[in-house]
Amino acid sequence: MSESHIKIFDTTLRDGEQSPGCSMNLKEKLEMAKQLEKLRVDVIEAGFAIASPGDFEAVKAVAETVKEVRVASLARTLPQDIDRAYEAVKNAEAPIIHTFIATSDIHMQYKLKSTPDQVLERAVEMVRHAKSYLEDVQFSAEDATRSQPEFLYRIFEAVIQAGAKVINVPDTVGYTTPDEFAALIKGIKENVPSIDKATIAVHCHNDLGMAVANTLAAAKAGATQLECTVNGIGERAGNAAMEEIVMALQTRYDFYQNKTNVVTQQLYPASRLLSQVTGMKVQRNKAIVGENAFAHESGIHQHGVLANKSTYEIMTPESVGLHQNQLVLGKHSGRHAFEDRMKSMGYDLDRPTLDKVFQSFKELADKKKVVYNKDLEALIKDKTLKMEEYFQLQQFVINCGNFMTSTATLKLRNFDKELEAVSTGSGPIYAAFGAIDQLVGKEYKLDDYSLQAVTEGEDAQGEAFVQIRKGDELYHGSGISTDVIEASIKAYINAINRMLSNEEKQDF
Ligand code: KIV
Ligand code: ZN
Repeated sequence: MSESHIKIFDTTLRDGEQSPGCSMNLKEKLEMAKQLEKLRVDVIEAGFAIASPGDFEAVKAVAETVKEVRVASLARTLPQDIDRAYEAVKNAEAPIIHTFIATSDIHMQYKLKSTPDQVLERAVEMVRHAKSYLEDVQFSAEDATRSQPEFLYRIFEAVIQAGAKVINVPDTVGYTTPDEFAALIKGIKENVPSIDKATIAVHCHNDLGMAVANTLAAAKAGATQLECTVNGIGERAGNAAMEEIVMALQTRYDFYQNKTNVVTQQLYPASRLLSQVTGMKVQRNKAIVGENAFAHESGIHQHGVLANKSTYEIMTPESVGLHQNQLVLGKHSGRHAFEDRMKSMGYDLDRPTLDKVFQSFKELADKKKVVYNKDLEALIKDKTLKMEEYFQLQQFVINCGNFMTSTATLKLRNFDKELEAVSTGSGPIYAAFGAIDQLVGKEYKLDDYSLQAVTEGEDAQGEAFVQIRKGDELYHGSGISTDVIEASIKAYINAINRMLSNEEKQDF
């Protein structure tokens, strides 16, 4: 079997961002794009330029910032979509327009109200339109896995003839199975006469929990571009998870004989950054990047790993960028050691930000005996990824106990105004959230709340996660502090700020 190169097309900022509660602001998208560049993915799909002015600005900013990776924008097969996508990506070093139309009978009949011939004609016309702007055009046949294979062969041949460089086979609703998907890819290779002029890409959703398995089966059958997202975020049950695909290809190279360019040591930092900016936690037992992925609890396993790591470890934590429980710095650590640590963690901060983070580190080191990498990550996030703060916590006092109703008094800053409210509740968090609701005006509902320790140790910082709902929209928020009540209040305010900032975006 000959080795081939597999391209990784990351759609965290487009399909991933469509996932409920995962919307990111421009600053967060740029940070994520820079991390994807460090990962050395081949393509970043930065957004859907026509979806909103916010999406357009984000795609444009990513295209103008990222230099080492190609940048794509999604577009329907409509002239105005393609024009907008081009405007957004045109300043990238290597821009791509990714256009799509549905090809399954069910979508063509009920959604597009078009015949297969009309769909084919529109696809060809719009690929030509995109080609009038730039060379790299990708075409996706939405709902390909529920489409008639013969129609897929026909439309793929036609768009390749029109100049598409990549034809993408999406399992839009997560319906296919590994064997079936591999057979479809083989069928495309055998029945599309001009297939050698294009790259075959696949894009899998995880509705039946098979997105990664389907993607890998397609790679084995000849697909050479794999579409995925960090942490597997995406519509409904998500997209295929990048870290799982990349580490499966690397760990089972003997089987797949395929290499990616991904710098695997950047996988864990990418996963952490994404969950910090979206407030979306990674499940503890998630493969590759979950808290438990490299934890050996049972005595037998621990004994084996101590004797020889390969007994129970098929990859090292270091290979995905996880440096477990690394003791970082203490209160006597100096500026030099701190800056060195920042660099070795992959952060390249400008002087004013470094000064702010160092100051917060000193304050934290006064409260905690030891400061771990994860504590530092949290401080950096706090100082670099701040979104527009409509509301900011100033002060709080909470009176609570097991024999009384809790009372919370909170002061928040709302731009130049200072607001104060008092509320009672059956516990301190309930009382504090009630006071915030009074100040914000309650048009949302608390959907989920959880708290976890950032590191081990009695003096560990607490990280709170909150999810609020307004109508159909979900917003996550996170907050960190050595005081768990403060962490919870910050998380709640963070989710509210995210909701208010999203309200400024225009609807698609
Ligand atoms: O799932 C899907 O079909 C998509 C396409 C737009 C590629 O996201
Ligand atoms: Zn998708």
